[in-house]
Amino acid sequence: MSATEQRPRVTVPRVVEMKARGEKVVMVTAYDTPTARLADEAGVDLILVGDSLAMVALGYESTLPVTMEEMLHHTRAVARGARRALVVGDLPFLSYQASADDAILNAGRMLKEGGARAVKLEGGEAVAPLVHRMVSSGIPVVGHVGLMPQSVHQMGGFRVQGKTAEAARQVLRDAVALQDAGAFAVVLEAVPAPLAEAITARLSIPTIGIGAGAGCDGQVQVVTDLLGLSERLPRHARPFLDLSRLIREAFEAYAAEVRAGSFPGPENATTMSDEELRKALADERDGTD
Ligand code: KIV
Repeated sequence: MSATEQRPRVTVPRVVEMKARGEKVVMVTAYDTPTARLADEAGVDLILVGDSLAMVALGYESTLPVTMEEMLHHTRAVARGARRALVVGDLPFLSYQASADDAILNAGRMLKEGGARAVKLEGGEAVAPLVHRMVSSGIPVVGHVGLMPQSVHQMGGFRVQGKTAEAARQVLRDAVALQDAGAFAVVLEAVPAPLAEAITARLSIPTIGIGAGAGCDGQVQVVTDLLGLSERLPRHARPFLDLSRLIREAFEAYAAEVRAGSFPGPENATTMSDEELRKALADERDGTD
């Protein structure tokens, strides 16, 4: 029996309860159905359709170019693969910043059209009123503070946040504001481990860290980093598999067999009766169908 069959579907209250029970929350990104299915079967609790999609699957330099339509497209694919895990759709740049009405509509689309069960958005105190509106509309929200890749240009690059007392205080205020607004979990990205630990102790909702040390209530990783598919690995990541090597070897083996004429073999092809073939070729010579 697989991990999925043994356990009930992960719900929002269940994620919050995990913190109280001292159970670690496991989250990973996915962008397609087979990856989501495998993560789900492995017992991952939350699958994030992150806007990291832009960088790790679509070849962009930052997360900024990915659109709401692209995020919905990939969220639908992931939702089709996840039976137990809670699917979280990331709200892309400019899908919630321009107006509160846009924000609610786009967050709602993630659930209604994307099949997600929650959304994630970047920002702290500044987005707390939006988070409150979303939650009041029945849309569960995961917050995201610390390094916020959608603000990469404002931050001057993908840098660790909260290293000075003032900056750390702001990250803490942001996390608390999200909790007060009704977020059910908050991602802490690229903040010093002691700060993440202090925020985790301060909040009653789970913190989910990435580059924030082991003191968070859970961890999230970008799937391509985890599987060894990334060209450049961030310091906080560890590949649990060298999938690049395995995939390259498979392509090389395939190419070699095609060139040698040993693939496809008889077992990969379909046959037909000699008589039908003879008839088809004779009919073609006669010009009849
Ligand atoms: O887009 C993403 O994958 C994320 C995670 C890094 C948390 O936001």
